[in-house]
Amino acid sequence: MKTNKQNADFLHIGNKLINWYETNCRPLPWRENQQAYQIWISEIILQQTQVKQGLGHFLRFIERFPNMAELHKASEDHVLLYWKGLGYYSRAINLHKAAHQIIEDFGGEFPNCYHEILKLKGIGKYTAAAIASICFDEKIPAIDGNFYRVLSRIFADDFDISNSKAFHYFTNLALLMMPEEKPGDFNQAIMDIGSEICKPKNPLCPECPVNSDCLAYQTARISEFPVKTKKAKVTDLNLKYYFVQFENKFLIKQRGDDFIWKKLFEFPTSVPEIWEKRIIHSKTIHHKLTHKNMTIEIHTIELESKKLLEKWASDNGYLIADEELADSKSFPKPLETFYKKRKSSAVGTLLF
Ligand code: ADE
Repeated sequence: MKTNKQNADFLHIGNKLINWYETNCRPLPWRENQQAYQIWISEIILQQTQVKQGLGHFLRFIERFPNMAELHKASEDHVLLYWKGLGYYSRAINLHKAAHQIIEDFGGEFPNCYHEILKLKGIGKYTAAAIASICFDEKIPAIDGNFYRVLSRIFADDFDISNSKAFHYFTNLALLMMPEEKPGDFNQAIMDIGSEICKPKNPLCPECPVNSDCLAYQTARISEFPVKTKKAKVTDLNLKYYFVQFENKFLIKQRGDDFIWKKLFEFPTSVPEIWEKRIIHSKTIHHKLTHKNMTIEIHTIELESKKLLEKWASDNGYLIADEELADSKSFPKPLETFYKKRKSSAVGTLLF
């Protein structure tokens, strides 16, 4: 049980964070108003991307889909196209599905409390808490890795953040720090401090507004926090593709919506056995996803009969020309890189 004195100390730190945020927050476009639509889009983009890289994507996305009605109206492929370069395409698919939920199940109004926001596709606890606190002043901490790091350092708290109870533990700690007013500023202060000051390596403690309260800093033990004993498991994944071309055309197909790279386009993963005899080039690419080490083999096949490709395409996918491809289809990053390098290498030499 915390004493009243301890509670006052916790609140004091929370208020300091909010005061700091008022004059030091990063000027970001989605912070100009508290529109749930824009905050939502920014939070989904920032789930996977640093602010610096996400900014341009956010502006482009908002320009093309300025409101819920426009996003709802768009086709899934079109939304995917505007997600190009951000990766993790299932997030774009869920974003589009959530726009449908909001228009069709919530009467077009963005749900205005944490538990309702959590019902939307692609929204987890962190994102729901960020939106509920920033847009609707709900007192609820937005807990992610940054949050664990900042809090465990302030309190020199060795609670293991890989423990399944960490979320509950740090939620309670944060609630003690959060004043009733400006919960969104509190959460965003921690987001900004976590990414700009209280960084995993080489934190800028002298610039931190709560360094005089930070137990880890005061006892020179910053590098000991947060405590994390278990690492996420990374598995190997081998993929094989056939890049089947005829003149400037080649074959592609769309992935399903299970497993990785949902709904993105890719090259054929199997071809008639006889085509394998026409492999003219093979390349192996290594690619890392958060939990996967991928080895991707790409075999280039040149066919002399367009009819064979057209038959395959009519059964399995598309026969597409180079110039059509660039602006109309989204590919997984390593396949896009393969395709672009191939295109820029001297035609027919395949020297990449
Ligand atoms: N990271 C995640 N959400 C953010 C936000 N709203 N502002 C800045 N950085 C963030």
